[in-house]
Amino acid sequence: MNNPIGIFDSGVGGLTVLKEIKKKLPAEKLIYLGDTARVPYGNKSKDTIVRYSIENTKFLMQFDIKLLVVACNTSTATSLRILKETFDIPIIGVIEPGAKKAVEITRNYRVGIIGTEATIRSSAYKEEIKSLNKKISVFSKPCPLFVPLVEEGLLKGPIVDDVIAHYLKFFKNKDIDTLVLGCTHYPLLKSSIGKFFGNEVKIVDSATETSNMVLQLLKEKGIISRRKKALEPDYYVTDAAERFLKVGRTILGKDLEKVAVVHVGK
Ligand code: DGL
Repeated sequence: MNNPIGIFDSGVGGLTVLKEIKKKLPAEKLIYLGDTARVPYGNKSKDTIVRYSIENTKFLMQFDIKLLVVACNTSTATSLRILKETFDIPIIGVIEPGAKKAVEITRNYRVGIIGTEATIRSSAYKEEIKSLNKKISVFSKPCPLFVPLVEEGLLKGPIVDDVIAHYLKFFKNKDIDTLVLGCTHYPLLKSSIGKFFGNEVKIVDSATETSNMVLQLLKEKGIISRRKKALEPDYYVTDAAERFLKVGRTILGKDLEKVAVVHVGK
């Protein structure tokens, strides 16, 4: 029960997922790995992303984790099935929770998905949504410039509004009533994206939905920690800890305690 929960992302974006898990489960020990040496995953091939995802999981397995959260949409889209076949622990990705929420809240059965090129290319969200309800029409758009905007700390203002309009005008004649933020970085752009659509479109943030699923799974398996006090997460990155600390502060709204640089893979 008191074993840690492992979380990995291609970099810093998965902290949006960690933040939500920590809010709901403060007494759990969280171990986060950001593969900052090899980020971004979003423009890489499936084979490469699968290899990185396996290496990241092997790294986290050494801590005897009771659950793995793949806090990266690109890794989830390309590698979740293979990770589940390879490792004998419960594994949660970020796509199923976001897709479920979208299916639950759409009223006109027209849902938009935004994410990295690899996530959209994989059709993982579309397949998940269609498997839940065939009648839903799914419209997908990769938004490759959103990740660098967030990494630069540009979350609001004219540049952000222009980039958002550049990609999201695609949805203007699609009549969607729900949009899934299918990338870990996008929750930071939520208010700017919301401004673009006005009130017509509900925005699903997969970080929040994933934390709900983590809580539910721990309850079902009876493995919620019985600790009384809150614990700080341990952070590991594969390169450039300073940048991780800087963007991490924006995401978590506070300084990260300490970050260790590690080598993952061969
Ligand atoms: N973490 C990735 C995702 O959620 C975004 C960054 C990347 O391209 O690696 O898709």
